[in-house]
Amino acid sequence: MLHVYGNKQNDLAKLLPLAFPLSETSLAPCTLLHNPAIICIIKSTIIPKMKFARSILILGAVLGMACACQRALPGVTNQYVPQKSAVAANSMVVTPHALATRAGLDVLEQGGNAVDATIAVHFAMAVVFPRAGNLGGGGFMVLRLGNGTTDALDYREKAPASAHRDLYLDSLGGVIKGLSTDGHLAAGTPGTVAGLIAAHQKYGKLDFKKLVEPAIRLAEAGFPVSSAEADRLNSFQPAFRKFNAQPNPFLKDNWKADDLLVQKELARTLRLIRDKGLAGFYAGETANEIVAEMQSGGGIVSHKDLENYESKWRKPLIGKYKDYKVISMPPSSSGGVALLQLLKMVEPYPLKQWGFQSKEAVHVMVEASRRVYADRSQYLGDSDFFPVPIDSLLNDRYLLKRMGDFNASKATSSEAVGAGNFKIAIESFETEHTSVVDADDNAVSVTTTLNSNYGCKVWVDGAGFFLNNEMDDFSVKPGVPNQFGLVGAEANAIQPNKRMLSSMTPTIVEKDGKLFMVLGTPGGSTIITTVFQVFLNVAEFGMDLEKAVNAGRFHHQWLPDLIMTERGTFNEATRQVLEGMGHHFQEVERIAVIKAILKLPDGRLHGVGDFRNPDDDARGD
Ligand code: DON
Repeated sequence: MLHVYGNKQNDLAKLLPLAFPLSETSLAPCTLLHNPAIICIIKSTIIPKMKFARSILILGAVLGMACACQRALPGVTNQYVPQKSAVAANSMVVTPHALATRAGLDVLEQGGNAVDATIAVHFAMAVVFPRAGNLGGGGFMVLRLGNGTTDALDYREKAPASAHRDLYLDSLGGVIKGLSTDGHLAAGTPGTVAGLIAAHQKYGKLDFKKLVEPAIRLAEAGFPVSSAEADRLNSFQPAFRKFNAQPNPFLKDNWKADDLLVQKELARTLRLIRDKGLAGFYAGETANEIVAEMQSGGGIVSHKDLENYESKWRKPLIGKYKDYKVISMPPSSSGGVALLQLLKMVEPYPLKQWGFQSKEAVHVMVEASRRVYADRSQYLGDSDFFPVPIDSLLNDRYLLKRMGDFNASKATSSEAVGAGNFKIAIESFETEHTSVVDADDNAVSVTTTLNSNYGCKVWVDGAGFFLNNEMDDFSVKPGVPNQFGLVGAEANAIQPNKRMLSSMTPTIVEKDGKLFMVLGTPGGSTIITTVFQVFLNVAEFGMDLEKAVNAGRFHHQWLPDLIMTERGTFNEATRQVLEGMGHHFQEVERIAVIKAILKLPDGRLHGVGDFRNPDDDARGD
C-alpha cells in the first residue's frame, strides 16, 4: 500500500504561511503534517472530502491540534519532523535530514536541476548532519540524465603523499590499535568540495553561489538539533575532548533535542567556498587551518596534498539483471562490481517462486555474498593504482563457475572460499546517502561520508568541520580486518595519493529504457548487500518501496562466517533450517539506512527514507 500523502503534504505546506509564519530554517511550524496520527486523519478522511474554501478552515483546526500533539511527542524536535514516505508528480528529494531535503527542494523550485539540488543538499548536510555530512570527507555520485546519459564522479579521499604501506604498524609489524580510526593520522585528503564543484561545472544549471547559500544560513543562524543528533553528540563527547584541544561548538555536556547548533567558523568556510570555489578550501585560509590542525596532532595532510587533490569522472558500471539495467559506481568503490556480481550470481535462481526470505532464497543470496566479498578482499582497490580485473569479475562464465560449488542444502565454509579468522566490531556507523529526481527525470544517487560518526573526531580549528577517518578503509595490513570486519590485500594496500577502497553503492536502475529506481545507503560493508536486497524486494518480491525499505535485512561478508540479521528478520523455523544447513547467525540492531526513489507505473515518484534513521526525510513536489 502506498502512502500517497507526500504531494498532498507539499500542497498543504504551501498553505501554511497563511496560518503560521515560516522561519528560514524550519520546514513548517511544528511540522504538524508529519505527525503520523494527523497524516492518517488527513489521508483517510479530510483530503478526499474537502472543498478548497472549507479546507483552509479545517486545516487551521487540524494544524492547531497537530502542533499541540507534536509538542507532546518526546524526542522529536518542534522545528521540523521528518517524513519517511512521499509521492509526488514532478520531483523528489530523499536525504538523511529534513532541513537538507528542504534545501534541495528550494533549489528545484528556483529552476535548478537534480545536480544543483544534490549540491545544495550536500552543503546543507555538512551543517545539519555533522556526523556524516561533510566538507572534510568524500563520496561518489552516479547520474542518469533524463535523456539516458549516465556518468559517475569519484571524489573519494586520497592517502596523503607521505602515507606508506606500514603507516599504522609498530616496529614489530603489529597494527597500532586506533591509529587508522581516531585522531589526526586517520584522515585522508578530503574530496567533497572538489567533487561538488566538478559536478556543478559539468552539469549545474543555477549559479554555484546559490547552492551554498542555504548551508551558510543554517551554519550562521544555527538550527535546532534533532534528538538523534543530540544523542549522538552526547555519546561522542569524550572522543571530541580527547582529540580537540580548542573549544568548538560541539563540546557541551548535555545536548537535548532542539538545542541550537550554531557554527560560525563553518559559515565562514562556506562563504570562502562560495566566493573562491576550489581556492576557498584547497588553498588560502582554509588550507592553512587544515594543515595547522594536522601539525598540531600528528596528521600528515599537507598543503601539497590539498593543492593536488582532484576528483575524477569515471565510466559508470552498467550491468543487466533480467529486464533491468543497473547503473552503479566503479572503483575506487567496490560497490558497483560487488552489486553486479551478486545480481548475476542469483539471476539463474527462481527467487520469486521461492519467496521473500524463504530458506532457499536466503541461502543462495548468502552463498553469493560469501563469494563476492572474498573476491572483494583480493581483487578490489583503486583502479588508478591496481589493475582491478573488472571484466573478469563480471564475466558471466566466471560467475557461473564461482557458484559452481554452491550446494543447495548446505552452507559452504568460508575457509574453503578463502582464509582468515576474526571478530567483527560493531559501532554505530554513519555515512549519508541522497537520492534526487527532478522534473526532467534527471536522477542523482550520491553517497558521501566521513567514515565513522564525526570521522576521526578532529574538528579543524578555525575552519569549523570534522575530518574523515577514511584511511581505515585501506587494508592497513594484509588479512587484518578494518572497523567493518573487511579484510584486504595488495589491491587495497596504502600507497601515496591512492584512494582507499569503499563499499558505497550509489545506484540507479532503468527498466525498459526508462528511469525505474534510485537508491543507496550508508552502512559500511553492509551497503552492498542492502542495495542488493532492497532492489530485489521490489524487482523480485513485488513489494512497494516502503515495504522494501522497511523489510528486515541480513548480511554475509565472507568473513566472519556468519549471517548478520536485524532482530526479528527471519521466522524461527526458517532460521532453524538455515542453521541446520550450517549457517551461523549474529543479531544486530540495524543494517544500513536506505534512501530510495521509485518511478511508479503512472509516472509519479515515490520517495522513501528509512525508519532506521529517525532523521531520514523524503519530500517531493
Ligand atoms: O567507504 C566505505 O565503504 C565506508 N567508509 C563507508 C562508511 C559508512 O558507511 C559508515 N556508515 N554507516
